[in-house]
Amino acid sequence: MAKIYFKKKDIIVESEINVGQTLLDAAKKMDISDITADCKGNCACGTCHVHIDEKWVDIIEPIYLASLEPYLLEKSKQYNKKLSRLCCQIEIKNEYDGLIVHLLES
Ligand code: FES
Repeated sequence: MAKIYFKKKDIIVESEINVGQTLLDAAKKMDISDITADCKGNCACGTCHVHIDEKWVDIIEPIYLASLEPYLLEKSKQYNKKLSRLCCQIEIKNEYDGLIVHLLES
């Protein structure tokens, strides 16, 4: 299990999720409406875009460059080369326990 913290301004929502599930699964478990995930986790829509907290950027597995993830992120208005990730493309590992994710303004 890993605890994930979704932050938006001063609001923090905590989600506990099994290792091997995705960051999107953690968001869905808590009904986080900011993440609509229109393609249901198939890396095709970009609506699960979040910013990874700066402290965690180097711990999270890097983007798989041959996937659509970089393309979808670069199209987003809130794209940040260092922090942007798609929730559906991050598989939870034990070492992600305590991960902080920032929700974006819609
Ligand atoms: S849910 Fe569509 S890209 Fe992640």
